[in-house]
Amino acid sequence: MTSTIRVSDDPILESTLDKMFDPMTFDGQLNILQLNIAGLNLIEEVNKLDPDLVIDAGCGHNRFKGHIKNLIGFDRLGYPFVDLQMPIEDAPFRKESADVVMALGAVHFGTRELVEKQVSQMVSWTKPGGFLIFRVNHKMFFDYHNNIRMNWTLQDFEYFTKKHNLIVYKELQYEHTINHKTQTPETIKMVWWWQKPGVRVKQTIDPVSCQITNHPVQ
Ligand SMILES: C[S@@+](CC[C@H](N)C(=O)[O-])C[C@H]1O[C@@H](n2cnc3c(N)ncnc32)[C@H](O)[C@@H]1O
Repeated sequence: MTSTIRVSDDPILESTLDKMFDPMTFDGQLNILQLNIAGLNLIEEVNKLDPDLVIDAGCGHNRFKGHIKNLIGFDRLGYPFVDLQMPIEDAPFRKESADVVMALGAVHFGTRELVEKQVSQMVSWTKPGGFLIFRVNHKMFFDYHNNIRMNWTLQDFEYFTKKHNLIVYKELQYEHTINHKTQTPETIKMVWWWQKPGVRVKQTIDPVSCQITNHPVQ
């Protein structure tokens, strides 16, 4: 059996995601309109941290750009407003550089092996004391696992918390969305914030030498 640690390792997954999130047809507005704990509220909550760098992994239309301070949004597909077109599994961010790394609806596709790789990447980009904000589809709604979706369970959340030695900073909550046209339940999301152990520092980078200096968070 071949292993899938990138979307591009599996042509069926790759073409399914290309169609599902075709930038010409996927608008993703419902998420931002219906969600109260992983929606527009994040603008205020993340800005309060006065971040040097916020990474929005799988950002789609990059809706937080210009609203969350120092945010870079990237996606594997070429949405018009992305800062970088790149899959999570290959994105080249500097280790321990981000105050906040967000995965809003982006880390539940493909095999478990791929999701493991993506979570590890995101943890590596997070500063000690920094935060990871996750929104994933809950298995209660899509009650299956296959090579296209890894719908999360409470056990998955607990497993990754332990694997990466993360602190649960904001408890796991469930958010429901409904389909506007049919008024029927559409998905159940699991949302939480992790914190990486350590003391968060602010960083300045010298424009000539590129030397990084750490400063205490005020
Ligand atoms: C449900 S949409 C969410 C978009 C956005 N985060 C939001 O909340 O509106 C999922 C996004 O994840 C992206 N995505 C899926 N797998 C990805 C990967 N391996 N690397 C980067 N982006 C990925 C998709 O292209 C799509 O834009």
